[in-house]
Amino acid sequence: MSDRSLLILPGDGIGPEVMDEVQRVIAWFGDKRGLGFAVSEDLVGGAAYDAHGTPLTDATMARAQEVDAVLLGAVGGPKYDALDFSVKPERGLLRLRKEMDLFANLRPAQCFDALADFSSLKREVVAGLDIMIVRELTSGVYFGEPRGVFEEGGQRVGLNTQRYTEAEIARVARAAFELARRRGNRVCSMEKANVMESGVLWREVVTEVHAADYADVELSHMYADAGAMQLTRWPKQFDVIVTDNLFGDLLSDLAAMLTGSLGMLPSASLGAPMANGRPKALYEPVHGSAPDIAGQGKANPCACILSFAMALRYSFDAGEEATRLEQAVERVLAKGIRTGDLLNVEGATPATTREMGDAVIAELEASL
Ligand code: NAD
Ligand code: IPM
Ligand code: MN
Repeated sequence: MSDRSLLILPGDGIGPEVMDEVQRVIAWFGDKRGLGFAVSEDLVGGAAYDAHGTPLTDATMARAQEVDAVLLGAVGGPKYDALDFSVKPERGLLRLRKEMDLFANLRPAQCFDALADFSSLKREVVAGLDIMIVRELTSGVYFGEPRGVFEEGGQRVGLNTQRYTEAEIARVARAAFELARRRGNRVCSMEKANVMESGVLWREVVTEVHAADYADVELSHMYADAGAMQLTRWPKQFDVIVTDNLFGDLLSDLAAMLTGSLGMLPSASLGAPMANGRPKALYEPVHGSAPDIAGQGKANPCACILSFAMALRYSFDAGEEATRLEQAVERVLAKGIRTGDLLNVEGATPATTREMGDAVIAELEASL
């Protein structure tokens, strides 16, 4: 029995399609690199709602708490848009994040050289880009109370609350500083301290944590709107960006397009260390269930495959194997093998989701 346990939650739309390719990659590492995984699979999102009337059963939640890492495809889709908020597919994902206390969401945006001409920005702006957005994932306006839609003065009012405790800010700031030390040693913190009290506290706490324990790391602050502008103007000025749940959601989609496609961007959501020293962890692509292309073999599996690479690095202490996988993906792209989201390039070879998986495995083989 392997001591590496993985729970796979393919989810909805293109989730199961891209996860099929990841399953083959996982099997390859077991067969060829002696990295065996005990893999179990379960339902989440709309798929779980269809089977059980809830986007995440208690049994699946309990299983997620036990394993070394969870790998999730994507949730959601038009079929579920009219459902009550409490059972929407997205609630399944939010429950996993909240109950596993995955407060640090790492969203790297790296521009592979082969894709530098594919970004909507100029090559010189994105070539060589390597930034890491650390998004706070378990608090802020996503979870703050009170919330709801209610009647007031004869009309409906929609309410959400942005709320952060200093402990919540401090722990995600620490995660960002620790990461920066292993990268370019620079952190830029983004909030709206000019208009929001929670932003004022955010800036104060990040500054305090920095002064107390991370004075060797270069720290700067930016208002999040200006940060969005700077990310498109000259993204290479950044190393690690730390920001709240909602700003991080927006800024990471923006950063995805710097790299060429949402189909390329992986993520890791990390919590506190478990008894075995591994962090509680969930890995997932940044993209959603892509209903417009689901079921057609068009989805780019790279974001999900690269999310597994992050699992190798952050959960299984296999950084070299993670690099092997990342380089395999990079070589496939360099050969011009592309899914439709990246195809608008001269001389490119169109590939289906499966063919992209085949090509990555062929490059893994070639790396031996
Ligand atoms: P989306 O990411 O699903 O799609 C946005 C666009 O990017 C679409 O044109 C899609 O075809 C394209 N795209 C996304 N991933 C791709 C891939 N791997 N390969 C090729 N093209 C890709 O976002 P959306 O359309 O705003 O949301 C659709 C559903 O997904 C919604 O229900 C939303 O709530 C959900 N969603 C889920 C997650 C998640 O599970 N983590 C994240 C974002 C959105
Ligand atoms: C993401 C998604 C999720 C979010 C949704 C699906 C709950 O957009 O992971 O970026 O808003 O966090
Ligand atoms: Mn998002």
